[in-house]
Amino acid sequence: MKQISDPGEFQRLCQVYRSQGLSIGLVPTMGALHSGHGELIKAARKRSDVVVLSIFVNPLQFDNSNDLVNYPVTLQADLEFASSLGVDVVFLPSRDQMHPEPVMIRVEVGKIAEILEGKSRPGHFSGVATVVAKLFILAGECEAYFGEKDFQQLAIISRMVDEMHFPVEIAGVPIVRDSDGLALSSRNLRLSKDQKKAALALSRALFSAKAVISDGLRDVSSVESVMVTELKRPIAGVSKADYPVLDYALVVDQATLIRPDRIDRPVRLVIAAWVGDVRLIDNLGIDISH
Ligand code: PAJ
Repeated sequence: MKQISDPGEFQRLCQVYRSQGLSIGLVPTMGALHSGHGELIKAARKRSDVVVLSIFVNPLQFDNSNDLVNYPVTLQADLEFASSLGVDVVFLPSRDQMHPEPVMIRVEVGKIAEILEGKSRPGHFSGVATVVAKLFILAGECEAYFGEKDFQQLAIISRMVDEMHFPVEIAGVPIVRDSDGLALSSRNLRLSKDQKKAALALSRALFSAKAVISDGLRDVSSVESVMVTELKRPIAGVSKADYPVLDYALVVDQATLIRPDRIDRPVRLVIAAWVGDVRLIDNLGIDISH
């Protein structure tokens, strides 16, 4: 497994692969890898000839400097994990190599970045779009793998590829969960045992809402109330200080992320909450035609 930190060298290597007729599968990450990232790598391994993993904790997308400082770094374990899954190249740029100072250029994202996650995290999606655009420019024509865990991110990047004509094919990968339902996230490393128990309320809320939709409920406000009620339910053995604090629990159109009044099309249930000082997100797709 090759390790490269220089962007120019990475770009040239990708060009060499393509000139040999090999397809490139790009998996962008911020490290602290877990089986969620693993599924992205496996999907790339199945479909693309050369699997390229990037590990870069992108400062441009952190609206909260505390979150950036506390972001887990587990590089040695990440490299072993990547190698065990057959990654060919790991791209590990330094902050200055990726974003040479002074940073003057950023990708601007429209209204889709102002709702849901963007509402609580101003500038976040512009930071994500900027670093992902740089990765696409360096990797060149490729397939790029993103998790549905960050559903809004996936929607914004897909839109960016269409609008900016990147020669990139986006592949979405379903959310990987623990056996107890908790969506895997690098941030889970920062949760105490009790906080992990509290965090289960997010997926429970999503699956409760799915159940009432299966029973025929179609009114969006009522479905959202089910999620809120589930999230506020007392949790045995957990102190109130560790209870999740809800940011939003909404039903949105799968494609536009706009909230309909009734569930009469494919939708996503989306939820965000704080547990301690850790922000958690989760979502679930619902297609009533199936
Ligand atoms: P990061 O949080 O490291 O996630 C990297 C990729 O793994 C994203 O596409 C994310 O959706 C996916 N992922 C994370 N947890 C997952 C899970 N439980 N199931 C399925 N996929 C999961 O997302 C980012 O990094 C950054 O914003 C990035 C795109 C790398 C730009 O900096």
